[in-house]
Amino acid sequence: MTIRFFKPPVGPNSVKYALETLETGNTPGDNPFTFRVNDWFKEKIGMHATYVVTSGTHALELACFALDVKPGDEVIMPSFTFAATANAVAIRGGICVFVDIRPDTMNIDENLIEAAITDKTVGIIPIDYAGIPAEMDTINAIAKKHGLWVVVDAAQSLMSTYKGRPVGSLADMSCISFHGTKNFSMGEGGALTIADEKHAFTAERIRENGTNRQRYIRGELDKYTWDAVGSSYLGSDTAAANLFGQLEVADEITQNRVDAWNYYAEKLKPLEDKGLIELQKIPEYATGNGHIFYFKTNDVDTRTELLYQMQEAKIGAMSHYVPLHSCPAAKEHARFVGEDKYTTTESEKLVRLPIYYQISKEDLDTVIAKVYEFYEGK
Ligand SMILES: Cc1ncc(COP(=O)(O)O)c(C=O)c1O
Repeated sequence: MTIRFFKPPVGPNSVKYALETLETGNTPGDNPFTFRVNDWFKEKIGMHATYVVTSGTHALELACFALDVKPGDEVIMPSFTFAATANAVAIRGGICVFVDIRPDTMNIDENLIEAAITDKTVGIIPIDYAGIPAEMDTINAIAKKHGLWVVVDAAQSLMSTYKGRPVGSLADMSCISFHGTKNFSMGEGGALTIADEKHAFTAERIRENGTNRQRYIRGELDKYTWDAVGSSYLGSDTAAANLFGQLEVADEITQNRVDAWNYYAEKLKPLEDKGLIELQKIPEYATGNGHIFYFKTNDVDTRTELLYQMQEAKIGAMSHYVPLHSCPAAKEHARFVGEDKYTTTESEKLVRLPIYYQISKEDLDTVIAKVYEFYEGK
């Protein structure tokens, strides 16, 4: 690719910090840089606890583990999401109950959730598509009314806000990804934020093979023991050091991406005015983090043609998820409730353009020019 779809960010101190872990030998998880990441979360997000883990997938898995999702339990989520959201439930024998999305944000339609609740429903997992938070006040109110938990798949949305509140603080738990494609990267990594002490205690134990090793590290015990079933979800401190180097400049990284996002939106607006494309919209209640820039073509054939031409020009433009309810694994692990009015049709028209920290204006202009060239040739 001449213009890559993504490029993992590197903070000014990332290399220095990562080298420090190699020199000191503090490469395993829960060493100084992991704790500095925890402190960053405490200051910026302010939940009871944050755990750095091996991936966004594992943050979701750990959340469902800590919430004790059991075989047959139902969890409501959108079908327009990554397989990881569904796998976290399915791996525990739970059933994914999909409801339709809103066409404006591509997030779960909060007004369809209540109709999907049964006596087996235990929780709701909204996702923040393209970094834009779902309509959390409504979702939390429904959950409260029915005694359900809410875990946000916030893989894409760190540094976005909902009604002035930061992502990561908007539900019982939030699952963040630090995959190389995300705004902040450990290569592979993630974090789980937890609101209450009880679940934090459970997750802390599961994360370290069901032991009370964290309490031992804090000096609360003189040895640690195997107390429950768990696994290992610790992210390496070398990767946490790289991440911390980025979090130190989180505002700058976010602003840089938002500037690129705004530039695309401004330059492509004339195509929307002519009715040729529909640009991504950010609802009043939110601020974005420039994670994904997308627009929608008028139909799937146009998208196929456009993506082909972008590939030919070596520009990393992409479609996104195939809705999970139309995938083979859904037969056994999921069902769709209500009408699929938007999930399939809207996802088939979506085109993502290259965006990353410090993408050059020249590259943005090349991408924009290619989109114009495509539509002029039609
Ligand atoms: C919506 C969503 N959920 C979950 C994940 C999983 O994160 P990871 O790749 O860190 O496992 C991703 C990232 O790809 C994602 O975009």
